[in-house]
Amino acid sequence: MCGIIGVVQRRGEVASFLHQALKRLEYRGYDSVGVTTISNGQLHMKKDKGRIEEVHKKLNLDEIPGCIGIGHTRWATHGIPSMYNAHPHFDCKNEIAVVHNGVIDNFLELRKELKSKGHEFSSDTDTEVIPHMIEDYVSEGLTLDNAVTEVTRRIEGTYAIVAMTSRDDGKIVCTRDGNPLVIGRREGATYVSSDIPAFLPMTNDMILLLDGEVATLTAGGAEIRKLSDGSEVERETIKVSWTADQAQKGGFPHFMLKEIHEQPEAVRNTLRIRPEVIQEAAKFIHEARNVYFLAMGTSGHAAMAGRHMFASLAGVLPIFELASDFPDTVYNSLSKDDLVIAITQSGETTDTIMAVKHAKSFGVKVVAITNVIGSSITRMADHSIFTQAGPEIGVAATKTFMVQLTALAQLALALGELTGFVDNEMLEKKRQSLEKLPEIVSEVISRNEEKARRLAGLLYDKPSLLFLGRGVSQATAEEGALKLKEISYNHAEAYSAGQSKHGPIALVHDEYPVIFVVPRDETRWRIVGNIMEMKARGASIISVIAKDDEELKGFSNHWFTIPEGIEPEFSTIPYVIPLQLFSYYMARRKGFDPDKPRNLAKSVTVL
Ligand code: F6R
Repeated sequence: MCGIIGVVQRRGEVASFLHQALKRLEYRGYDSVGVTTISNGQLHMKKDKGRIEEVHKKLNLDEIPGCIGIGHTRWATHGIPSMYNAHPHFDCKNEIAVVHNGVIDNFLELRKELKSKGHEFSSDTDTEVIPHMIEDYVSEGLTLDNAVTEVTRRIEGTYAIVAMTSRDDGKIVCTRDGNPLVIGRREGATYVSSDIPAFLPMTNDMILLLDGEVATLTAGGAEIRKLSDGSEVERETIKVSWTADQAQKGGFPHFMLKEIHEQPEAVRNTLRIRPEVIQEAAKFIHEARNVYFLAMGTSGHAAMAGRHMFASLAGVLPIFELASDFPDTVYNSLSKDDLVIAITQSGETTDTIMAVKHAKSFGVKVVAITNVIGSSITRMADHSIFTQAGPEIGVAATKTFMVQLTALAQLALALGELTGFVDNEMLEKKRQSLEKLPEIVSEVISRNEEKARRLAGLLYDKPSLLFLGRGVSQATAEEGALKLKEISYNHAEAYSAGQSKHGPIALVHDEYPVIFVVPRDETRWRIVGNIMEMKARGASIISVIAKDDEELKGFSNHWFTIPEGIEPEFSTIPYVIPLQLFSYYMARRKGFDPDKPRNLAKSVTVL
């Protein structure tokens, strides 16, 4: 939901850094792009509608003078994608430039007020009120940081704001409430960005900026103050372990494919999370009255699979609620004895953050499972488990899903130990099966990639596909259907296979593709019945099955196979991989960019 970058350095031009940083942020939005720098006491600006490379071809983003600059890649909320609505936005005198991520709820009222004072607007965005308000405060004699502070007192909504003025070419001011911003530091240069990968090639030293704080960045460092009382904040520098290479395509045509191939490593690293961190989370669950999983999208599918793991291994059945609907579902039924487990790879999803805020207002404790250190959710949580996927750039979540499942599996085992629901011998068997995951995940990729590519060649023009699974495999089917919809735009629906004959079967006709997820678990014999029902109606059966499941091969038109060795509770981990690959190749076959699906952005920071 919009990517922001800012840099102030002692010497040297910032243009090509801004351009490259925006490319690393493009997954956050790609409707339009813009940069502004300061040189010789003047703002210089280039912006337009379109993807970064299209705009670069037209405007040459590498040529814009100055050693201080800000940039933005947009995911439109207010105002269509156009040159005028692209950020940065400016004041009337063209002295103040602002980039913003978030939504200003009261912008119409502010805009009316500013217009009545004579301000002229050149866009339809909510953002543009900010530079005009800063202009007024600066003309009253306030410094840029004080002007920005005053603006935050008037605006309602969520925001990450970065501003600079041609009257001071050594300083960038930034603030946030509800949208991410991190500061990067190295000798002679300071950076600010929506996400760490943007400045990774320059530095691994990061300083967190929290909601309700304003920072003044100069080439020599960052000065952070509280918005509420102006008091100075001491904040230590954190070293991030991610590497710049991880944020590059590394020879793969797309980030999504690279990230699918990184899954064995991501799982391996997540299996190394310190046991005390997992055990502490298990303790929270063990002591809770009701346990809620809150998540959206793919993270919600991890929650669905996690419920099965918890029920089967620990005798605990959490309630899964979509974070977006949680306040309207639970009303006031929460108590301080309840626990929320918020699953969010970015840690910045507004739906999830708002649901957690709702829960916290009742004194509910919060455990976060997230991939991003320092993200908003971790600052609200009583305890956090950090998954170890490294940066995920492809908009469609793949390796972050894998590590969420891996963390949930470890948590289910730790909880099982506390509840004693299954005996130790059984828990040990399950634990050993988890240890095999990295090798199995690797084998699943190599075994199925070519098949996925070929199948995409056969099915790419099918208008609709059905994904079915039972038990934990319903989560796998849901994730397979979501991946397909979001990057290949084929209509896809997932159901519990049990539910399929209660309605969805009416869709089925000759050669209608139905994808069944069928691990060797206790649901297998029932799902065979569902396959037969679909076959009888002429469906083309595609199955994801165990390597030597000859019987199901006999019932299927096409199949993907998964090596044995993974316990049924964890089957989503290997079984979803062929479906990720299938979606990827469907998108490619249809000529779409799998990394940048239309209308989507990597983290959804609006309600
Ligand atoms: C799908 C996808 C989204 C996210 C959802 C939640 O590929 O990426 O459905 O899973 O927006 O995002 P996080 O996990 O960051 O809260």
